[in-house]
Amino acid sequence: MTLLRVRDLDAGYGDLQILTDVDLNVEDEEYVTIVGPNGAGKSTVMKSVFGLTTHMGGTVSFDDTDITGANPEDIIRLGLGYVPQNDNVFGTLSVQENLEMGAYILDEVPKDSLDAVYERFPILEERRDQKAGTMSGGQQQMLAMGRALMLDPDLLLLDEPSAGLAPDLVDEMFDKIDEINEAGTAILMVEQNAKEALRRCDRGYVLVNGQNRYMDTGRALLDDQEVRQDFLGG
Ligand SMILES: Nc1ncnc2c1ncn2[C@@H]1O[C@H](COP(=O)(O)OP(=O)(O)O)[C@@H](O)[C@H]1O
Ligand SMILES: [Mg+2]
Repeated sequence: MTLLRVRDLDAGYGDLQILTDVDLNVEDEEYVTIVGPNGAGKSTVMKSVFGLTTHMGGTVSFDDTDITGANPEDIIRLGLGYVPQNDNVFGTLSVQENLEMGAYILDEVPKDSLDAVYERFPILEERRDQKAGTMSGGQQQMLAMGRALMLDPDLLLLDEPSAGLAPDLVDEMFDKIDEINEAGTAILMVEQNAKEALRRCDRGYVLVNGQNRYMDTGRALLDDQEVRQDFLGG
């Protein structure tokens, strides 16, 4: 079953068009990555799915519901989670308060979800009372992910989850993402660390200049001579 379907999407900021005719699918429980040069429009795709850009054409649907231009709160309710590239935690709030914010659309904090997040990220439980802004980049990234998991989404959008992490933490982050996916959550991830992302995912898109350039299994993209040379550093 197709969870996310983006068709002929044109979008940008104000009068400035960034995306042209972007097509993209994520199937139930699939792990999909978007790679491509800096400024290609990868983050803009993610933001557009979440209704945070200027819509200029095309459609976005989730679980067969048209969400083109819907507001983020309604989108979250349908089962879509989003971890933005920057500023994705509330620095002055504690770890636990941040996680509780992840469930703000519910009347009560779902205790089961909180326990599940702490089980997945033990470091967050150890630091539950610490102010998020005083934690390392890697810990903040895990917190941002934990917050998005509080509503147990069917699809999680991750924008550059490994950015700025020390090399040993990069592997740990990718392992966590594998685990989340194996537990049944579909993933749509943007990554600068393109080779590793393509190794891990089921399918990948190469986005260039706001347009689709290649789409194939992660393995096929890694093995493609042109893709290697132009986008993966040989
Ligand atoms: N808020 C914004 N307002 C205007 N232009 C933006 C905004 N955010 C990004 N852009 C522009 O959109 C283009 C694509 O950016 P982005 O989607 O962030 O690329 P990527 O994530 O692939 O590096 C870039 O030219 C960038 O300068
Ligand atoms: Mg980006």
